[in-house]
Amino acid sequence: MELYIDTANLEEIRQAHEMGVLDGVTTNPSLIAKEGVDYGRRLAEICEVVPGPVSAEVIATDFDGMLREGRDRATIAQNIVVKLPTTAEGIRACKALSDEGVRCNMTLCFQALQAWLAAKAGAFLISPFIGRIDDVGQDGMDLIHQIRQIYDNYGYPTKLLAASIRHPKHMLDCALAGADVATVPFSVIRQILKHPLTDIGLERFIRDYQGAFASRK
Ligand code: E4P
Repeated sequence: MELYIDTANLEEIRQAHEMGVLDGVTTNPSLIAKEGVDYGRRLAEICEVVPGPVSAEVIATDFDGMLREGRDRATIAQNIVVKLPTTAEGIRACKALSDEGVRCNMTLCFQALQAWLAAKAGAFLISPFIGRIDDVGQDGMDLIHQIRQIYDNYGYPTKLLAASIRHPKHMLDCALAGADVATVPFSVIRQILKHPLTDIGLERFIRDYQGAFASRK
């Protein structure tokens, strides 16, 4: 499973990239707005740090506007993936941009047939939002399983990117379900590497080493 970071914070992106396991970045208008920076400049800065796919969302919701903004975002860097909403206009824009060779990430996917149409329109990525589904009392993981099944039934090459991940259990379930990519906040990447038995074990190894060898120089 590929690992993307879901943030527009450059420091977090740099730290995750330095770990050597980061495959890409997803951003959205809310995440970039939170940073209080210029929208296009921040996307360019992220693309300089991470060579993998960087999702850049359009603001327009009509076909012509999405096409215009999508083409514009695609000029920021070669690794930009244009992020479009999974609406009727968005699917149309995805088909048009994909035919031009622009990779698209279809966002705000909440049902499996949206993902099916995104695949038919040539999307590079589909983003089902599992945390937001859990938030309204349903099970976001059901959607991941359904999309995986549909894509495997017909061999669609669109990558299943699990989004709106809130905790390591979500990530584990996505890996077991065969998601191609998980995009997660930096806090979740840190949580994955935190286990009390790792800390206790490490402390004991160091203590035992020092007790036995540190005095014999
Ligand atoms: C994905 O591309 C989105 O930016 C993101 O995962 C949304 O997550 P949220 O529901 O925590 O805002």
